[in-house]
Amino acid sequence: MRAVYRLATREDASRLYVIRRRSILELAPPTMPAAEAQAWASKLTRSGMERKLHELEVWVAEVDGVVAGWGAIRGDTLEGLYVAAEFAGQGVGAGLLGMLEGLMRERGFPSVQAEASLNARGFYLRRGYRVTGPQTPEGAWPIAKELPG
Ligand SMILES: CC(C)(COP(=O)(O)OP(=O)(O)OC[C@H]1O[C@@H](n2cnc3c(N)ncnc32)[C@H](O)[C@@H]1OP(=O)(O)O)[C@@H](O)C(=O)NCCC(=O)NCCS
Repeated sequence: MRAVYRLATREDASRLYVIRRRSILELAPPTMPAAEAQAWASKLTRSGMERKLHELEVWVAEVDGVVAGWGAIRGDTLEGLYVAAEFAGQGVGAGLLGMLEGLMRERGFPSVQAEASLNARGFYLRRGYRVTGPQTPEGAWPIAKELPG
């Protein structure tokens, strides 16, 4: 699927909030128990989304002018990756991830750091990430991927 990438603006907050919430509730189960997905989805409020837009570098993937997913980075850390449920399984997530890795590589970072939720672990491991430590108290795995120099 051909996506166009752009930086998010404050006007995107509402759409990005809904994408995150629905992607977690609809895509994480059944790999992740529904109650865990519910707890994860509820961790971010609408005003929290606005703060995120302020604090992180948030990139949006658009397909035919529609926001299909978003990813956030800070330095060499991937802070979030979410694909709208109706666009799942079409390469939007892989495309966004590859684009963000490219940005970090261009900026001279030797590796990407992230945390993989139970449902997304396989997605990252199939893309060259390795687990770097024990599961966090929230149930995610710290992961990293070396970037080509
Ligand atoms: C994890 C997540 C971002 C993946 O997004 P996605 O757009 O569905 O992912 P992709 O379509 O790129 O890849 C999913 C699978 O579809 C396959 N796929 C299907 N059609 C494809 C296409 N046209 N092009 C590329 N890949 C395609 C991919 O190969 C991939 O399979 P693989 O992981 O076995 O290699 C998404 O499921 C999501 O938002 N989940 C909820 C939130 C979440 O867990 N975020 C991660 C936080 S750690």
